[in-house]
Amino acid sequence: MTSVSVKVDGVRYSDDVEPRMLLVQYLREKLGKVGTVVGCDTSNCGACTVHLDGTSVKSCAVLAVQADGAEVTTIEGLSPLGGPLHPVQKAFHEHHGLQCGFCTPGMIMQATCLLAENPDPDEQEVREGLEGNMCRCTGYQNIVAAVRAAGQEMRGATAGTAAVAPPTGAGRAPDRVPATAGAAPSDSSETLEGQRP
Ligand code: FES
Ligand code: FES
Repeated sequence: MTSVSVKVDGVRYSDDVEPRMLLVQYLREKLGKVGTVVGCDTSNCGACTVHLDGTSVKSCAVLAVQADGAEVTTIEGLSPLGGPLHPVQKAFHEHHGLQCGFCTPGMIMQATCLLAENPDPDEQEVREGLEGNMCRCTGYQNIVAAVRAAGQEMRGATAGTAAVAPPTGAGRAPDRVPATAGAAPSDSSETLEGQRP
């Protein structure tokens, strides 16, 4: 077993894990972050996409131990618990960018990184930015529309003074109760930042 300490959605977790455990397994099985889903387990579909230190990664292609010391944001930490949706989440809802929803967590996490790098992507740039994420339902058209609409809203918010939740969870006050509070396995020690593990 190897010790890992990783901040996930604003909360610090310290655990002993098998060196071969994938980050997506750690998130789902240890922390109960089941909003991050597994579509293929072979790094093809993108459904498991999360942010690792601000960069989108397929969490089935990363070992949990590789996230030691890092900050991870999942779909569950993209917007404040009980608060308004992130603009990308809102745009997917308003533009019908999902049907079954299985690809949606990964699509949204990838889209937020895309918009952080390119706040005003054209249609082709959105399609290229999401090329690692597969959807079996929508035909992609509404996903592209949603991402472009989210970019427009976020640019408007940036031009004004309205705050938009950052894509990486950086700066989020770590005072949230974990979504899985009370449900984590007994060998998973979760602490708020600043407290001793
Ligand atoms: S489950 Fe990770 S890319 Fe498909
Ligand atoms: S909405 Fe069903 S896989 Fe994308």
